[in-house]
Amino acid sequence: MASNGLTRRHLFGRAALAAGGTVLAAPAIQTVAEATEPAGRGLVEVTLTVNGERTRMHIDPRLTLLDTLRERMNLTGTKKGCDRGQCGACTVHVDGRRVVSCLTLTASVDGKEITTIEGLAPPGGELNPVQQAFIEQDGYQCGFCTSGQIMSAVAVLREGRARTDEEVREAMSGNICRCGAYSHIVEAIRQARERGRVI
Ligand code: FES
Ligand code: FES
Repeated sequence: MASNGLTRRHLFGRAALAAGGTVLAAPAIQTVAEATEPAGRGLVEVTLTVNGERTRMHIDPRLTLLDTLRERMNLTGTKKGCDRGQCGACTVHVDGRRVVSCLTLTASVDGKEITTIEGLAPPGGELNPVQQAFIEQDGYQCGFCTSGQIMSAVAVLREGRARTDEEVREAMSGNICRCGAYSHIVEAIRQARERGRVI
């Protein structure tokens, strides 16, 4: 019995009710579909150049670049893994620099050039040398992480940060592969580096 006459059972019951009230009172979490659908109010206009094509759209200012690419532009090669910046599956290039698109607001990249895995090689043309090396070196198993791995690898090679396998492992440490294809990924990047043809 508590000193004010309440039993432990009463106290826990009240705490549970309070917690339940908090949950019920909290605003509903917006689904991706709701966030990506133009609602008419509070939208911002952005102009993006995605894979060489300039496009203008009205978006919810909270929309991430990842959801814009996947849900608004149907560019589903960019994958949603963790959706919190921890796996690298959603890596794309913004003005040539790699970013995790799940933590990038589309409104913050207004006017910029975005490249996704779909835009890495010209349609019907040769694959990017890094894509080719991933194929030749079996740099993937299920493939879910692969587009992020390739986008990261291209950026790392362009930046000259992949001179040794050790540097590759360090620079690529933000790209997680649940299948554990790491040794093949490093071999693929080594091949691309040694052939010296990375765009
Ligand atoms: Fe963006 Fe995992 S989905 S880092
Ligand atoms: Fe399956 Fe990397 S190939 S997660």
